[in-house]
Amino acid sequence: MDIDRVERLIRPGLATMRGYDPVEPIDVLERELGRRIVKLDGNENPYLSSPRAREVLARFPYYHIYPDPLQRKLREALSDYTGFPPQNIVCGNGSDDLIDLVLRLFVCDGDEVLNAPPTFGMYPFLVTLSGGRLVDVPRLSGFALDVEGLRQAMTPRTRVIFVASPNNPTGDVASTEEVRQLLDMEIIVAVDEAYFEFASETVASLIPEYPNLIVLRTFSKWAGLAGVRVGYALCHEKLSSHLLTIKQPYNVNVAGEAAAVASLQDADYLLSNVDKLRAERDRMTEGLASFAFLHPHQSKANFVLCRVDQKGRSGDETAARRLRDGLRGRGILVRFYESDGLRDCLRISAGLPEDTDALLEALGEVWNEL
Ligand SMILES: Cc1ncc(COP(=O)(O)O)c(C=O)c1O
Repeated sequence: MDIDRVERLIRPGLATMRGYDPVEPIDVLERELGRRIVKLDGNENPYLSSPRAREVLARFPYYHIYPDPLQRKLREALSDYTGFPPQNIVCGNGSDDLIDLVLRLFVCDGDEVLNAPPTFGMYPFLVTLSGGRLVDVPRLSGFALDVEGLRQAMTPRTRVIFVASPNNPTGDVASTEEVRQLLDMEIIVAVDEAYFEFASETVASLIPEYPNLIVLRTFSKWAGLAGVRVGYALCHEKLSSHLLTIKQPYNVNVAGEAAAVASLQDADYLLSNVDKLRAERDRMTEGLASFAFLHPHQSKANFVLCRVDQKGRSGDETAARRLRDGLRGRGILVRFYESDGLRDCLRISAGLPEDTDALLEALGEVWNEL
């Protein structure tokens, strides 16, 4: 059998699918650029993970044993942290895993999933993998949800909507009232609160009232565990029981479980880092706004979306892209998007104070050189 025939056996839609745009590994880049990288492109935590979590991992004796499929210790610890009983909690291999599980649970081939771009790129990626049909209802100017547009986009095949709050890449929070309106549409509403600790706003208190609400959270951002992959969902206990049944038994590995439990024991320390990042985000926003060619959008997360004026040349190559390239040449990484409506924007993660200083110093110089 030749490879062409093998490829023809791939599920329709997947052979030509565009993959997720990942950020490049930092060691590869450091080697390529030959200098220390200021990494402001991945919304990661520059204060690292908790020392307690690192110590627990270093001493952990049970790497040879399979993890607990029911995630008992972690769900107990999360119960103390969230105030929800363990029956309302399911953990995943990052919250990406839970986005995938929600789609597996509710979406059959051809079912529709509502999406409110610009938003997190994992939703289109995983909806395509699921065989579902993504229905985009763009946000209004200023990036508020178009609740009426979403309502009008509903059909008998609509199953799920994903709403990131704070939204990545804009940093806007969906109001409780907006989320209630979506819940009243009687579809599954997955509110992705990956940046909850930075915003301190949540709709989790609506769960007892709305069995169609699923709140997703992660240890990647506030707890600095992006590389270890631990996320969780809060929802009605019947839903969490279905999610527990269909998940891969060992989706959270022993290192993830141990690191997440230790992080929760070290929550005060980690939340003090969140406070520092919030302050740095605000200082960076002010600094960006001081340049006439930059227009930062107020954010409640650990990053800022910033519109960049066009300069000189026109066409596809926006000044935002050239600014990204110029910053990269100086070892400063920020996120640029190829997608419609964002080609004149950069998303910049909050970093250490010295990262912000380096960024603000480089921006003016690179702009002058464009
Ligand atoms: C809105 C949103 N949800 C989920 C994630 C992914 O989280 P995790 O690392 O837990 O998979 C991200 C990461 O950038 C995100 O921005």
